[in-house]
Amino acid sequence: MTPIPRSVLAAIVTAGLAVLAFVPAARAVDQDAARTLARTNNCFKCHAITRDKDGPGWKKVADKYKGKPDAEAQLMHHLTSGEMVKLADGSQVHHKIIKTDPANDTAQIKNLVDWILSL
Ligand code: HEC
Repeated sequence: MTPIPRSVLAAIVTAGLAVLAFVPAARAVDQDAARTLARTNNCFKCHAITRDKDGPGWKKVADKYKGKPDAEAQLMHHLTSGEMVKLADGSQVHHKIIKTDPANDTAQIKNLVDWILSL
């Protein structure tokens, strides 16, 4: 077998690295993980996908943020800051701060936000 020239090997390694670097950006939403995180956090106590409960249906949220470049950042803030929200009965509460296992796993929260925005 003829040995593979060094330059060809270098090209293969470079191409491989380029693909690896591209993967995180192209990562699709993991819908099952998003739903599981929402379920374990009791988000569905106040939210549904299509209809409004105490909180707005998440399709409505997706519509509201459609085309807004900072949508992901705003919802990340919403889920981690405990800002005040108004419930159906008019009372004001701190919005639930999302919990992940391990704690503060931004990637998990981001996946849920991206899923909500994709609805
Ligand atoms: C006690 C009820 C309650 C729970 C539990 C709850 N939410 Fe909410 N949520 C609300 C209310 C009320 C609003 C409306 C906020 C507003 O528009 O003022 C809201 C708004 C939102 C929005 C839209 C924010 C925006 O900027 O338009 C998202 C997204 C959201 N919640 C996600 C979640 C997720 C994810 C969970 C679980 C970690 C969760 N909520 C748990 C009541 C709740």
